[in-house]
Amino acid sequence: MEKLVALTKRRGFIFQSSELYGGVNGAWDYGPLGVELKRNVKDAWWKAMVRDREDVVGLDSAILMHPMVWRASGHVANFADPMIDCKKCKKRYRVDEIQPDYEETGIVPTQCPDPKCKGELTPARKFNLMFETVLGPVADSANKTFLRPETAQGIFANFINVTNSTRIKVPFGIAQVGKSFRNEINPRNFTFRSREFEQMEMEFFCKPGSDDQWFEYWVEERKKWYASLGIKMEKLRFRAHDKEKLSHYSKATTDVEYQFPFGWGELEGIANRTDFDLRAHQIGMRSVGRWKGEELQDFQLVDEDPEFAGGKLSYFDEEEKRRYIPYVIEPAAGADRATLAFLCDAYDEDDAGGEVRVVLRLHPRLAPVKAAILPLVKKEGMPERARKLYDALKKRWPVVYDESAAVGRRYRRQDEIGTPFCFTIDGDTMKDGTVTMRERDSMKQERVSEDAVVRLVEERLEG
Ligand code: GAP
Repeated sequence: MEKLVALTKRRGFIFQSSELYGGVNGAWDYGPLGVELKRNVKDAWWKAMVRDREDVVGLDSAILMHPMVWRASGHVANFADPMIDCKKCKKRYRVDEIQPDYEETGIVPTQCPDPKCKGELTPARKFNLMFETVLGPVADSANKTFLRPETAQGIFANFINVTNSTRIKVPFGIAQVGKSFRNEINPRNFTFRSREFEQMEMEFFCKPGSDDQWFEYWVEERKKWYASLGIKMEKLRFRAHDKEKLSHYSKATTDVEYQFPFGWGELEGIANRTDFDLRAHQIGMRSVGRWKGEELQDFQLVDEDPEFAGGKLSYFDEEEKRRYIPYVIEPAAGADRATLAFLCDAYDEDDAGGEVRVVLRLHPRLAPVKAAILPLVKKEGMPERARKLYDALKKRWPVVYDESAAVGRRYRRQDEIGTPFCFTIDGDTMKDGTVTMRERDSMKQERVSEDAVVRLVEERLEG
């Protein structure tokens, strides 16, 4: 992990936020290569979840939402982690991290887990993870809202807008990629647990009764997605939650976990959220008129009729000629966590003629740079010829031109950032129009026609 973290900084994938000022815990900046890699991850998700389908549409909702959204969704009351402090060394912990059975047993540890300290711990208290902010210049409670802790609620809040403005019919999904914020007690493991991160979430609305089938379907689809991007399947597991441990809104949840160097970690949760959210917002909508800006914590939602299925957030099924509140299957993934998993999975060191070669074996579709064009020497017309090839490729993909240092060194540079192909222009190119194509993974070199290069790259990226 340390080697990977060092590489990502050295080569411009990931930097600590505000490093100049000593850094900010739990926030990360993506450098020139990192931004391309993460974008490729998000694009691959968008393609699979929206573009390649007819039953899913996209959305980009605002991060700032009406404060009642977070009251109705349950986040104001429940989106909290148990926190505990050591009175002696002042370290702060999430209780369930030092006492894994805390949720079930309620047992609260009393001594600091640091063997060098063993100080007395404070009582556990709940800490709400939402970042508070104020809409407008007056900081009273009516203007207080939160940075969204998940993108999902923006989708539920637009369910009616989407069904009214499109011809889409249940079963269908709404997908969105965007920033979310959680004031994590203990951000850690590089970008894995951050306070600001990006989610890739899709809410799939289906007829009650068909939800179990759709849940299984989406677990399989998500498995295929990770496999299609070349992740090592032996490092990926799908873990179904025990029925007793499900969150209050969920009927079934399966986590997608990856074996990181620091242990198994969740990349994505696939949940059957039932009709919980649309029903909750229906109650929230009916209550909002009564809210005069009191503290959200104290405000009571009015649930006049919990079985009410004909409200604004219900759906009229034309085939069945009846209204119901759809059930929701939610595959909710993290863009930063997926990016980190692909990086960990790709990192490799091998022996290249007695010397250690560091290589990122990224899937070509994810690689931030698709090809490097290298003139063997800086003379005899080779740079000009190489530039021509570079210009042709550059129109289609991010590629680099590199004429400095020995060609072997230049290959290593590209291996380290995961560039799948290098094309070298040499003396023979000038005579017969062929170039050397060198593959990152096998290090195999073959002569190919200069004119075939664009097509070859295209085939490899799409295949
Ligand atoms: N809408 C459901 C939801 O938000 P979640 O399991 O809390 O579910 C979904 O979050 C995904 O978002 C996680 O599987 C993870 O990939 C990502 N995620 C959540 N918290 C994160 C954090 N603090 N840092 C980075 N990614 C996080």
